[in-house]
Amino acid sequence: MDVIHSVPELRERLRREPDNVFVPTMGNLHEGHIELMRIAKPRAACTVVSIFVNRLQFGPRDDFDRYPRTLQADCDKLRGAGVDVVFVPDEKAIYPEPQTYVVEPSDLQNILEGAHRPGHFRGVSTVVLKLFNLVSPHAAIFGKKDYQQYLVLRDMVRQFALPIEITPAETVRAPDGLALSSRNGYLSPDERREAPRLYRVLQEVESELKAGMHDYQRLELHGMSMLADKGWKPDYVTVRRRGDLQPPLNGEKDLVVLAAARLGRTRLIDNIEVDR
Ligand code: PAF
Repeated sequence: MDVIHSVPELRERLRREPDNVFVPTMGNLHEGHIELMRIAKPRAACTVVSIFVNRLQFGPRDDFDRYPRTLQADCDKLRGAGVDVVFVPDEKAIYPEPQTYVVEPSDLQNILEGAHRPGHFRGVSTVVLKLFNLVSPHAAIFGKKDYQQYLVLRDMVRQFALPIEITPAETVRAPDGLALSSRNGYLSPDERREAPRLYRVLQEVESELKAGMHDYQRLELHGMSMLADKGWKPDYVTVRRRGDLQPPLNGEKDLVVLAAARLGRTRLIDNIEVDR
């Protein structure tokens, strides 16, 4: 496995690898990331992973500074997963000058996560487009845990006609249901025990939907209060259309329930797709 830090070195290495699949990450890798590598590997001769904590997608009150950087452990895991190339640029390599040209996603960037983290999806799209230009993959894998991010990037690739197939990967969960996330590491032992409630709330909304409940607003308020009653600060629990995250019309079949809530100082997100 080659660990590469500079853009010229990456270009040189990938000149020999026209058939590559790409998994962009911010590091601090867990089993959820490794699952992305497993999906990637059979898709191309060469699997490329990037590790870059992208300042552009963090707001001033977000956790950019305390985001865990664990390069050695990450490389060990990637080697074990059979990854071929790991690109670990520093900020100067990705942003040698202030990034004044940016990708402005559609209105999808302003709802849900985007409403709580203004500019987040602009930062994500900008860095992912740049990484795509550096790596030139024919496919890229993104986890569905960041559901809105997956849709924003899927739409970006379609609208700019990038020759890249975007493959979504299912969320990997701990045995108690908590979606794996680098941010779980911020939780205290008590918070960690409480954290699976987020998924249980989503499951409860899912079973109400499957039982034919159509009063989405009532379901959302109930979900929020189940969290608030246990000391969480919910940003949203919401039922949306899967394709564009707009509120569903009555009788809509392909739904997704999304939630974001703060537990202590840690903000967790999760979602569940519902087929009716
Ligand atoms: O999902 C992430 O880890 C990041 O948002 C991504 C896609 C690597 C862009 O920085």
